[in-house]
Amino acid sequence: MKLFLLLSALGLCWAQYAPHTQQGRTSIVHLFEWRWADIAAECERYLGPKGFGGVQVSPANENVVINNPYRPWWERYQPVSYKLCTRSGNEAEFKNMVTRCNNVGVRIYVDAVINHMCGSGNPAGTSSTCGSYYNPNNRDFPAVPYSGLDFNDNKCNGEISNYNDASQVRNCRLSGLLDLALEKDYVRTKIADYLNHLIDIGVAGFRLDAAKHMWPGDIKAVLNKLHNLNTSWFSAGSRPFIFQEVIDLGGEAIKSSEYFGNGRVTEFKYGAKLGTVIRKWNGEKMSYLKNWGEGWGFVPSDRALVFVDNHDNQRGHGAGGASILTFWDARMYKMAVGFMLAHPYGFTRIMSSYRWDRNFQNGKDVNDWIGPPNNNGATKAVTINADSTCGNGWVCEHRWRQIRNMAAFRNVVDGQPFSNWWDNGSNQVAFGRGNRGFIVFNNDDRSLSTTLQTGLPAGTYCDVISGDKVNGNCTGIKIQVGGDGKASFSISNSAEDPFIAIHAESKL
Ligand SMILES: *[C@@H]1O[C@H](CO)[C@@H](O)[C@H](O)[C@H]1NC(C)=O
Ligand SMILES: *[C@@H]1O[C@H](CO)[C@@H](O)[C@H](O)[C@H]1NC(C)=O
Ligand SMILES: *[C@@H]1O[C@H](CO)[C@@H](O)[C@H](O)[C@H]1NC(C)=O
Repeated sequence: MKLFLLLSALGLCWAQYAPHTQQGRTSIVHLFEWRWADIAAECERYLGPKGFGGVQVSPANENVVINNPYRPWWERYQPVSYKLCTRSGNEAEFKNMVTRCNNVGVRIYVDAVINHMCGSGNPAGTSSTCGSYYNPNNRDFPAVPYSGLDFNDNKCNGEISNYNDASQVRNCRLSGLLDLALEKDYVRTKIADYLNHLIDIGVAGFRLDAAKHMWPGDIKAVLNKLHNLNTSWFSAGSRPFIFQEVIDLGGEAIKSSEYFGNGRVTEFKYGAKLGTVIRKWNGEKMSYLKNWGEGWGFVPSDRALVFVDNHDNQRGHGAGGASILTFWDARMYKMAVGFMLAHPYGFTRIMSSYRWDRNFQNGKDVNDWIGPPNNNGATKAVTINADSTCGNGWVCEHRWRQIRNMAAFRNVVDGQPFSNWWDNGSNQVAFGRGNRGFIVFNNDDRSLSTTLQTGLPAGTYCDVISGDKVNGNCTGIKIQVGGDGKASFSISNSAEDPFIAIHAESKL
């Protein structure tokens, strides 16, 4: 009886850290600014068949329409109401997406903007994605409804200016955004009603935007009001997966560990450090990645949501700075994402972007605001080319062979230990995952040619970076593993993809 109580307490307590992906699916992809109809199609034609676990979708609730038709991506972080009505689609389209994705084993996680409503500087009116009226000046959001009583103006009537003052960070306005009074049960209830609506439709969890700007106890109080996940797709008693956007690069008053009780946290040090290593800045080398993870001062693996870049720092917003690698630096980016997906640390999120016209002036991209590909403000469909890449300005990193195949690698090695590390003291490194997978990188200025212990059973394996296993044959490099588990690897330092990865299911 005691053991049963202990186990069920652990079960409850662990629940919000589990992504509820289907068995054997280990990564999610952020389909930034995609329309719900395109996500539904992508789940069926690509993400389900290729083994992706889920999709982080852009905010689902009504927001301010800013500067139509030159609408910035960040208008979606300025809520007007909790109606499911955005440029990604309406409620019927949202439901259709969740149902179709769940039915092919792909989960949906919603970016939940609950710290604030829109910016204080917007004029009153109905310039919103569902036409709801709002008046930032007197804090009137009748479509929720919220009034002046529901904001933190009595605690702080201005901007956050000092990140060493935790009360300021949590009670004042972030970039002018009207800060909700989450200590009020009324506000908590309105937010929980919105999130429960999404849960009932069938979402698996939430990214909590701007979590650092909310008190952990207030978030907890909201989470305590949430329903269990919909039993049409999830086992009874499943709690929503929670990952909180807490930017903690060290040196501020607020620590991401304060949020562990609520769920996972976004580990921003991960992409910033990995970018520095792959770029070989500050004397960093890949050989230093031997103790990657907690050894680098990151949060515990089972509390971390990790990524190479996100929608903010890929365009210079948020945290991380110049070291962040993105699709614009494709060669290094593929190595970084490959390393992330091969390494056991954290729960992994892959970024999927759109292109925009960058325009650097004095080192800053003055076009960092540009929204998704559109016709007069209406988001363009994601088209698929004959070679399976995307059209209409969508980058679709998740469809790049090297990234898609490493997402599969992660599924194949799930649960296997980090093993057989090798490095040459510089930027040539390799490691395995038990007897299920092995990866080798050459980020040095000289070619690599060496024999390594892979831990894999004897056989011929297809390198899933240079090609694919198709009908039992390999379109890329073949690697022979001997009966002793050893294999020879040669990687030119001028290769477009200077890394090789083999795994149990790429065996020919
Ligand atoms: C769960 O989803 C199903 C299928 O869409 C729906 O019929 C049902 O009402 C949902 N359950 C709840 C509790 O909303
Ligand atoms: C590793 O790097 C060192 C120094 O950069 C180089 O001298 C050596 O040849 C490399 N070792 C292998 C096995 O490639
Ligand atoms: C596999 O591919 C190689 C090279 O493309 C080819 O020579 C060989 O005949 C193929 N084998 C089979 C069984 O299809």
